[in-house]
Amino acid sequence: MIATLDFHITRTKNSKLAGTDFNKLPFGRVFSDHMLVVEYEDNEWKTPQILPYGKLEIAPSMLAIHYGQSIFEGMKAHRKEDGEIVMFRPELNFQRMNASAVRMCMPTIPEEIFFGGMSKLLQIEADWVPQTSGSSMYLRPVMYASDEVVGMHPSTGYRFVVMCCPSGPYYEKSLRMKVETDYVRAASGGIGAAKTAGNYAASLYPAKLAQDQGFDQIIWTDSQHRKFIEESGTMNLMFKINGKIVTPDVHDTILNGVTRRTLLHLAKHWGYEVEERPLSIDELKTVLENGTMEEFFGVGTAAVIAQMEAIGFNDKVFELKPLEENGFALKAKKYLQDLCKGKIADEFGWLYSVMK
Ligand code: COI
Repeated sequence: MIATLDFHITRTKNSKLAGTDFNKLPFGRVFSDHMLVVEYEDNEWKTPQILPYGKLEIAPSMLAIHYGQSIFEGMKAHRKEDGEIVMFRPELNFQRMNASAVRMCMPTIPEEIFFGGMSKLLQIEADWVPQTSGSSMYLRPVMYASDEVVGMHPSTGYRFVVMCCPSGPYYEKSLRMKVETDYVRAASGGIGAAKTAGNYAASLYPAKLAQDQGFDQIIWTDSQHRKFIEESGTMNLMFKINGKIVTPDVHDTILNGVTRRTLLHLAKHWGYEVEERPLSIDELKTVLENGTMEEFFGVGTAAVIAQMEAIGFNDKVFELKPLEENGFALKAKKYLQDLCKGKIADEFGWLYSVMK
């Protein structure tokens, strides 16, 4: 049971709602009217505030921008056909955010602030939750170190902020992916399993080099052998090989994605054999050459299910067939769309009701 919270609420006097085109929602660029802000000071979380979305003051010495003590999550809220607003599996984001907090030496966020704060924000922003098919309310919780100090210490102050972006699809087209063997995302013992800013910053330069070669994104390989597939810069990766759903097993260099876990659950439920295991570049090339790789797709909260057009290795680029409507990936995508619209029953209890 989540305790009731007090809030300090300041409503905007200049709503942007009427001027927002819900038929054209670029991902992550439109922000709703309000945000949640909770300060952590003197070893405790203070009263949550709901404020007009806008700039927050930061000092040039703020610890997060020097040393990267900053974590975040990606979540979605949906409007069902009957008008109810639901979040998708938020407890998994809550658990992962607090696991990231522990790894990055930050305070954990209490359940009542995470769920209560986000629910209150969504209730205030209800009119911003898109109705249009293929769009949703992307929620971006972020926590960062706010101390003003130049020196390597964990911060004593933190700020937890949640902003809401009514958004269309993250990827509008299928992707050309490059298998990266020069640069690495994460090494064992590092911070690869935490959803922290630096992991994303690390992907920018190799992704830019890949883009210069005509690719859209990279596929990371492991730091030790540069041989085993890990994840992409923006999502986990999944394959259907010879009828089986195969994905790299999660360990401390891979982010344990919510969509990844959801699809593995659906695959098992629908009777597919599922293998979470190391998948080498050599195996990938073999199954691409002998035609047993039936599906390849990306999975993530923002990306949902991303279609792939090609996989490039150092010596060869394989062009891929589009995913088939009756295949696993697109069947799972439709299932999730229907579930979040309330067209089918929530048989696994994945929807968290925010407002009827
Ligand atoms: C998400 O899928 O929610 C992410 O945080 C990935 C990011 C590249 C948008």
